[in-house]
Amino acid sequence: MPSTAPGWPSPGGEQRGHCPAQGTPDPAELSFGAPCPVRRLLLLLGLAGLLAGTAAGTWLLVKRVKEPPAGQGSPQEQGLDVIPACEEGEEEEPVVRGAPSTGPCTGGGSSQCNGTPSVSFRISTANSLLEARLEAHPGWLLVCHGHWGPSLGTLLCQQLGYLSMTRQQGVKLRDVRVSAGQRFLQATPRQGGSLQDMWQVRSSCQSGRIVALQCSECGLQAGAVRVVGGTDAAPGRWPWQVSVCQGSRHRCGGSVLAPEWILTAAHCVHSFRQPPAPAWLVFAGIVTHGSLQPEAGVPVREIIPHPLYSDSSLDYDIALMRLQVPLNFSGAIRAACLPPSPQDLLQGTQCWVSGWGYTSPEQAQVAGTLKEALVPLIGTRRCNSSCVYKGELTARMLCAGHLQGRVDACQGDSGGPLVCWDGSMWRLVGIVSWGQGCAEPNHPGVYTNVAQLLPWIHRVTQIH
Ligand code: ARG
Repeated sequence: MPSTAPGWPSPGGEQRGHCPAQGTPDPAELSFGAPCPVRRLLLLLGLAGLLAGTAAGTWLLVKRVKEPPAGQGSPQEQGLDVIPACEEGEEEEPVVRGAPSTGPCTGGGSSQCNGTPSVSFRISTANSLLEARLEAHPGWLLVCHGHWGPSLGTLLCQQLGYLSMTRQQGVKLRDVRVSAGQRFLQATPRQGGSLQDMWQVRSSCQSGRIVALQCSECGLQAGAVRVVGGTDAAPGRWPWQVSVCQGSRHRCGGSVLAPEWILTAAHCVHSFRQPPAPAWLVFAGIVTHGSLQPEAGVPVREIIPHPLYSDSSLDYDIALMRLQVPLNFSGAIRAACLPPSPQDLLQGTQCWVSGWGYTSPEQAQVAGTLKEALVPLIGTRRCNSSCVYKGELTARMLCAGHLQGRVDACQGDSGGPLVCWDGSMWRLVGIVSWGQGCAEPNHPGVYTNVAQLLPWIHRVTQIH
C-alpha cells in the first residue's frame, strides 16, 4: 500500500547476442539483405518498440480499470454549479462536516443554534460522570439523572463517536465530591428533538443523582507503540485493522467497530460472483500476512452493503460485516471510534492510512507486513477541481494524500481505515475506496466519508 512510486521500468536494457549461424536463412536478411550489425540494430529497435508498446498498453488498461467512469457524482449533486477551476482549490470549508443532527438545530460544537446556546458533552475518564458545557457558561456542568433514559444515553454515546452505550447509572450526588458552586444540567422531557435544545441549568438536582455513562471502548492503542522513520506498522499500532479474506486470500482491509462488527468498502463485497458470507474470513490482530492459518480467521455471518452503493460511481462505498463469533479484544485487537457528530475536520488534518495493499502500482502483490502512511486531508473543492478529480467526488467521498503523489493507498488497501487522532482518540474518518492509479501526482486517494454515513451505521448495528 502506502507506496513511494518509482518510475516506470524502462523497456529494453543492454542486450548482447550473436549473429545467427552462417547458412541459417534469416527472414530479415533475406528481405532487407542488411549486413549483420544493422540487422541486429533493427531487431533490437523492433523489440524495444514492442516492449514499450506493451508497457504503455498495460498502463493505459490499468489506469482505465482503476478509474471510475467519468460523469458520476456530478457537481450538481454536491451543490456545485461548475467544476472548480484548478486554482480555485483553496479551501476554507471543512473536509469533514459534523453530521446534521435530527432536531431543528443543526450546527454543533461551538456554533449558536436558533438562539439556544449549544452544548457539548464529555465523559470523565476518572469516574465516568457525564459532563456538559454550555456556550457562554464557564466550566463543565454535571447532568441530573431526572428525565434521563437509555435512549438519551445511546444517543449521547453515538454523538460522541462510540458505536453504542454499555452502561449508565444514576450516581448519588453525596457519593461524589463536587466543588462548591457546581452547576447542573437538567434534561427537559422532550421527545425526538436534538440533544442541543433540551437542557436547563440548575443549581442542584431534584433527584439527588447525576448521570454516569459508559460507552463502547474504542480508539486507543495499547500502551506506547511507535514507528520511527518507516512504513512498516508496529504490532498493536492499528489494532482495528483487519484483513478481509476469501479463504486465506487477502481481498481487502477492514476496521473493527465492535467485537462482532467490521466496517469495509461495499465494492469489496458487492458482486454477483462473490461467495456467501461464511466463505469470507476476517483476520484480526495480525501484522504479518505471510502464513495465515484459516483457523485463525473468523467467519462472517452477514454482509450488509449500503443500499445506495453504486458500482459505477462508487458512491456510498461502505459495507458492514457481522461476524459469527465476536472478536476477543486485546492489545492487538481493538475498535476504532467513529467521528463525533458535531466535529469539523479541516484540510491538512494529519490522518493515517494502513493496509496490506500493493507497495507499488506495478507490483501486483500484497505486502507481507502491514504498512502505514501519513496522508493529510485534502479539501473537497480542491480535490474536485479541474486538475484533480473534475467533479467526480460525491458528498460521501473525501480525499487524503499528497497532490505531488508518491504516498498513497493502493490496490488491496480498499476497505481499510483512514484514521485521525483528535487529541483523545483515533477516529475512523475514511474507508479506502478508489483513486486514479496509485500515488500519481494530482490523483490522491479517495475515501468513503464515514461522518456522512453515521446514521446508517447506527441503524444497522442497532437493529441486528
Ligand atoms: N480500489 C482499490 C482496492 O480495491 C483501492 C484503491 C485506492 N487507490 C488509491 N490510489 N488510493 O483495493
